[in-house]
Amino acid sequence: MPKQVIFVLKTILHLCLLAPLLWLLHIFHNGTLALDADPVNYITHFTGNWSLWILLGSLAITPARRLSRKLAFLVRFRRLIGLYAFFYATLHLATYVFLFSGYDLAGALHAAAAGHPGELLTQWRLVSPTIWDDLKKRRFIQVGLLSWVILFALALTSPSVVMRWLGGKPWQRLHRFVYVAAAAAVIHFWWLVKRGVRTPWRVSAILLILLAGRLAYLALKRRSLAVRPQTS
Ligand code: HEM
Repeated sequence: MPKQVIFVLKTILHLCLLAPLLWLLHIFHNGTLALDADPVNYITHFTGNWSLWILLGSLAITPARRLSRKLAFLVRFRRLIGLYAFFYATLHLATYVFLFSGYDLAGALHAAAAGHPGELLTQWRLVSPTIWDDLKKRRFIQVGLLSWVILFALALTSPSVVMRWLGGKPWQRLHRFVYVAAAAAVIHFWWLVKRGVRTPWRVSAILLILLAGRLAYLALKRRSLAVRPQTS
């Protein structure tokens, strides 16, 4: 595929993946978000959902290109999509730390602008015991953090220079942990909803299909490798 086409497609992809954030900024700016019963909860759910759907989108690229050679070019966008999943997961985590936990972000920023940057730290000192407590007590936070830490490690090691430094195979092995990150995010979702609520079923079904597809492909590949020496 010509370089110019890839460039245009990447630009469109950037715009599509930035659209949720732009939408969030738009409803914040025009006051619609403030009319929500719980704006912080809205942002937490919004960023969490987008992160998970984008992550699943990045995982769908490998099976898509295996299904049709015509879709092989999609692999060029996988890293970009994965990085956006990490970006939204980080916004989600930041929402939890700076808004959900009771950190007075507006007050701290105001104080910092007025020449008291220490207020940023004071606020952190005030909310950090609650955050540690949450982390110790709530398993959905623990598994969410596991997912974020994996995405962080994958984002750090995503540049080509790191891939060359690590070597192709070890890099690939490390990046298979993206499935663990997605599974942890889905478990995070199941563990946070109330008993009897089935909202996470869609993401769970998609992840299961993707995992089953991957396992089936590996089994077929192993079988064809085992058969080859006998036929030659
Ligand atoms: C340290 C990391 C994380 C923390 C502290 C965290 C925290 C939270 C919190 C507080 C909620 C709302 C819970 C409620 O409504 O009672 C939530 C929801 C959610 N989070 Fe996370 N999360 C983390 C990581 C992640 C990651 C990495 C993903 C996705 C890749 C994710 C996806 C979601 C989803 C899909 C929801 C539910 C959205 C909905 O109900 O519509 N979270 N998270």
